[in-house]
Amino acid sequence: MLRVFAIGDVVGNCGVDFIRAVLPAYRRTAGVDFCVINGENAADGNGLTPERCEELFVSGADVITTGNHAFRRRELYDFLDENEFVLRPANFPECSPGKGYCIVDKGKFKVGVLNLLGTLFMEPNDNPFSAAEKALKALADCSVILLDFHAEATSEKRAMGFFLDGKASAVFGTHTHVQTADEQVLPEGTGYITDLGMTGAIQSVLGVKTDIVVERFCTHLPNRFDFADGDPCLCGCLFDINEKTGRCQRAERVCIT
Ligand SMILES: [Fe+2]
Ligand SMILES: [Fe+2]
Repeated sequence: MLRVFAIGDVVGNCGVDFIRAVLPAYRRTAGVDFCVINGENAADGNGLTPERCEELFVSGADVITTGNHAFRRRELYDFLDENEFVLRPANFPECSPGKGYCIVDKGKFKVGVLNLLGTLFMEPNDNPFSAAEKALKALADCSVILLDFHAEATSEKRAMGFFLDGKASAVFGTHTHVQTADEQVLPEGTGYITDLGMTGAIQSVLGVKTDIVVERFCTHLPNRFDFADGDPCLCGCLFDINEKTGRCQRAERVCIT
C-alpha cells in the first residue's frame, strides 16, 4: 500500500513556514510514502521560485505542481527545464518552459504525476481532457498515476475525475483554495476530491489580506495583493493506493491547524 499525501496551494511565507514546521513530522506519524505539493503561490508576492521549491523538497515534497501562476516568476523558467519534479500544467503551449508530467521510480513500481489546468473561467489553453489522454500514454509504465487538476469549476473537476476513473489512481483539484468535502473513491477505483484546499493563513481571502480583497470588490480599483499572516492551516488529502493495481482504497481529507 502506498500512502499518498496531496497538499493544496501553499500561499506565501505563512504557508511555507507552516509546511516546514509540520510536514516532516506528519509524514512520519501518518506513514506518508509520497507527497505532492501545489506550490504555485508559495513565493512571497505570488508564483514560485527555485528557493521555495528547495524549501518544499526539504520539508518532504516528492513532486511540486503548479497552475495558472506557473510562469509568474522568470527565475523559475530554467529551473522548470532542469528539475523534472517541478511541473507546470501539461496543457500549456508545448514551447513553454518545463513539462507537465514526471515519473518517479520507486524501484518495484513507478509513480506518474500529471498537472493539468482547467479551461472554464480561466485563460484559454489546450483541452485538458485530450491532454490527459495523451499524457496517460506517456505514463503507461506507471502503476500509480496522480493528477493535480488545477481548475476553477467544480463541474470540470468532477468530470475529469469520472473521465479518468479506473485510469488514474487519484485525481485531486487545486486552485480554489477552499477544501471541498467530497473526498471519495470513484466506482472504478480512482481516489478523488474536488479541491484540496489551501496551506496558508486562515483569516484571509484565499491567502490574501482580507481588507485588500474587500476593497478591490467594493471599488474595482487595482491594488496590490499582499498575503495574509496569522494562524495557518495545511489542507490536503490522503490516498491509500494499491501500488500493484493502481486502485485507491481510501481517501481522507486532512486539515491541520
Ligand atoms: Fe493557487
Ligand atoms: Fe491557481
